[in-house]
Amino acid sequence: MRLDITGLRSGYGAGTVVNGVDLTVADQEVVAVVGRNGMGKSSLVKTILGYLPDVQGSVELDGAQQCGLRTHTITRRGVAYAPQEAAVFAGLTVRDNLYGGLRRHKPDARTTERLFDAFPVLAARLDQKAGTLSGGEQKVLLLTRCLLRDPRLLVLDEISAGLQPSMVNAVTDVLLAIRAERRLTVLMVEQNIDLCLSLARRIVVMKAGRFIAEAFRDTPDVRTTLLGHLAP
Ligand SMILES: Nc1ncnc2c1ncn2[C@@H]1O[C@H](COP(=O)(O)OP(=O)(O)OP(=O)(O)O)[C@@H](O)[C@H]1O
Ligand SMILES: [Mg+2]
Repeated sequence: MRLDITGLRSGYGAGTVVNGVDLTVADQEVVAVVGRNGMGKSSLVKTILGYLPDVQGSVELDGAQQCGLRTHTITRRGVAYAPQEAAVFAGLTVRDNLYGGLRRHKPDARTTERLFDAFPVLAARLDQKAGTLSGGEQKVLLLTRCLLRDPRLLVLDEISAGLQPSMVNAVTDVLLAIRAERRLTVLMVEQNIDLCLSLARRIVVMKAGRFIAEAFRDTPDVRTTLLGHLAP
């Protein structure tokens, strides 16, 4: 799925937080967004998902305008979103969190197997309340919930935050495999530069609501360049 963002502006009440963003993510491309705290990264992805009320500019999925549409309409078009904040249904079981709302859609068997292999805690605790999972386990629950929906565009907001290194590796491996098999397009906000460089060929830097730089994985010193943009 192709994503085209043009002249996007949005905010909360009086303040503009996303302040003129232009971005194209090609079909099956992975783009990472990095930036310091409070620069508008989460607000950008929430705007794409239809969560912010006052939006100017344009967000198109495969050429179809999404601005002004409700979130459930956008997700029905094949967008899956893992928010930065824990967003599991704590009082529901792990199973209901994973499969709730899937209706007739049957998750791809190979994808399902891959996810349960990578995150055995989910398989082991299917009948327990999701609220009993640790913060990191809730993150992989969210990711798994997204991937079982076989999205065409996957939007991740700091999926690696709070994960121990072995779990970050598992998330990286799962995303690399499923991205290729299911031909996913991915837009990921991410502070972990190594995860960015493992998955994304292109990384954009956000500052004060707009993109100020773009870096490519193949460029020499890309890691140092990106870390420079994130340094306080
Ligand atoms: N619900 C809200 N109401 C008012 N202001 C908000 C709201 N959510 C975020 N903001 C403000 O918008 C600005 C951008 O926040 P945002 O969460 O998009 O940044 P971010 O780049 O994702 O930061 P972080 O790296 O800490 O996740 C901040 O100044 C923040 O305080
Ligand atoms: Mg954020």
